[in-house]
Amino acid sequence: MAEFESKMQAWIKDEQCEVGRILTRLLFDIQGKCLEEARNDVNSFRERVRNALCKMHEAHGVLALGQGVQKITYQDPFYQLGYLYKLSMLSGRSLSKVIYYSRAMENRTMQTSITVVCLGGGPGSDVLGVLDYFVKCMAHFQGQLNIQLYDRRDKWAACWGSLKTAINAELYDGRISVSFHDFDVTTDDKNKPNLQNADIITMHYFMEEVYSERNEPNVVECFDYILQTAKPGALFLYSGMFMYGAIDWVHQLFNNCELLTPGTEPPHRWYQNHRTTLTEWIPCIEVNLNHERDLQLFDDIKGDLERFYDPKEVAQRCHGKVIYRLYRKVNNHSHWYW
Ligand SMILES: C[S@@+](CC[C@H](N)C(=O)[O-])C[C@H]1O[C@@H](n2cnc3c(N)ncnc32)[C@H](O)[C@@H]1O
Repeated sequence: MAEFESKMQAWIKDEQCEVGRILTRLLFDIQGKCLEEARNDVNSFRERVRNALCKMHEAHGVLALGQGVQKITYQDPFYQLGYLYKLSMLSGRSLSKVIYYSRAMENRTMQTSITVVCLGGGPGSDVLGVLDYFVKCMAHFQGQLNIQLYDRRDKWAACWGSLKTAINAELYDGRISVSFHDFDVTTDDKNKPNLQNADIITMHYFMEEVYSERNEPNVVECFDYILQTAKPGALFLYSGMFMYGAIDWVHQLFNNCELLTPGTEPPHRWYQNHRTTLTEWIPCIEVNLNHERDLQLFDDIKGDLERFYDPKEVAQRCHGKVIYRLYRKVNNHSHWYW
């Protein structure tokens, strides 16, 4: 145990910000599991991480997402390691920026508690994003911050346990509680998240992944339930990749909500709404982790992987543009599906 702790401390660098430290711990933990599975054979370990990264590269292409990705093997520890290494920091930092630019958490310092629900929060990148924003912008908040991550437990349970330990070790803060909930939009016994107390519901790089299932009865029921049971005033923060179909679908889903970010202020992107054929604006933020000196992530793995394999597939994603829209629920919706 002491040996494990000191090895991990060697990974963590003084200049890293809190979320960087948490993610480093998490990655270290999952790497330990992968090495164990590879019987400490470094070549086999590296090859399996590379395979996972290549599969992910294919699965997350816009066309693949449109065709359906429910079979992605997120539960494979090598896939999890690949995900954490390649995507989680970009995802977390971009969510933090989206929260900032959309003003979703502004003017809440007088609340006694804030509940943020992250739908499709994966291994916890969204938790890191909310924490990143919280640490930077809400230092004076005296209430309780509850972050609830909803995603498939059969896929991500191993990461959730490690993330909780990492948060406690690096950011122990009595104001923060983080919990994890089993959620699957495609099944009728896991598609009704408990959102009654949610102030903000994030959907970060999530709607693209369930887009291909959008007409399935359980999925329709799920989003109707979410819209029905969220309290009036709750905010829905949708963000992710620039994928026309998903943007249109989400906009249609939140049709009865008030759109708080029309996107007419730059920076934004424009796209053609497929149903109305009108040109619409959507706000957009840009992240470049290379410019963010407080991260210092994973140099050891990076050197190793990128030296041996094609960087297009295995490289950590450091740069991205993220579109977003913030909606507010105004009143109760009138139709029920169950
Ligand atoms: C691209 S990942 C995004 C994860 C996280 N929000 C992030 O930005 O790193 C998409 C997430 O959607 C989740 N997802 C896919 N299908 C789902 C379903 N049927 N029900 C619930 N979550 C699902 C996956 O498990 C995965 O965590």
